[in-house]
Amino acid sequence: MRTLFLGDIVGKPGRKAVMENISCLRRDLGLDLILANAENASGGLGLIPKNARELHQAGIDILTSGNHIWKHREIYNFLDETGWLLRPANYPPDAPGRGYSLFAVNRLRVGVVNLLGRVFMSPVDCPFRTAESILKELKQEADIVLVDFHAEATSEKKALGYYLGGRVSALLGTHTHVQTSDAQILSGGTGYITDLGMCGPCHSVLGMDPETVQRGFVQGLPQRFVLAGGECRLQGVLLDIDAESGRTNSLQAWEMPG
Ligand SMILES: [Fe+2]
Ligand SMILES: [Fe+2]
Repeated sequence: MRTLFLGDIVGKPGRKAVMENISCLRRDLGLDLILANAENASGGLGLIPKNARELHQAGIDILTSGNHIWKHREIYNFLDETGWLLRPANYPPDAPGRGYSLFAVNRLRVGVVNLLGRVFMSPVDCPFRTAESILKELKQEADIVLVDFHAEATSEKKALGYYLGGRVSALLGTHTHVQTSDAQILSGGTGYITDLGMCGPCHSVLGMDPETVQRGFVQGLPQRFVLAGGECRLQGVLLDIDAESGRTNSLQAWEMPG
């Protein structure tokens, strides 16, 4: 199963770049499944239902998210109502939406799990234990399991990768918006990368205008960050997953323009 998983889509420039290219990418790369993290897709922070729908209609099969998903209140009900949009699973149980789900793709059952890290981030339930209990349930039913681990610290991401190694098809990091060069297949056939990168402006600080971000650091005062403009780059990872075994046969960090 050929899969493209895109890193955090940032604001209108990121959405536009994704939507303009996604159907060509599906055809040219022969993709069976396209996923993306969309926690920054609206204004660079959060996600509103209209933008989620646009991305889905343009061809992204499944959207994951992260710590910024709660920014816009109108997404709360939408999370409850929409099967193809996930929020991290390790929020308290009565948070809106769901953190994992099963999807039918070419007669395969694909489990997708979204988790949030705890290092340098607001407190949530343990991602390791949450993953454990989700897998107990999903393993009965899923042929393939993909995990988006939305976390800050590389150590936490690597550790969860090894912890789930051989038990999931791939664990892919998001949240830092900077693509890492450590794509590898862990023993047991688990594809791994510390961060997918982002879909957003090339000349930016994580998608935001560098000037406003640097002013925050220099002055030490809160700033209203604004989205950067200019050329956009799409980043993610391209995976080939064996349908029989659920193992990743190959994965490579991917970006456009390459
Ligand atoms: Fe993000
Ligand atoms: Fe994030």
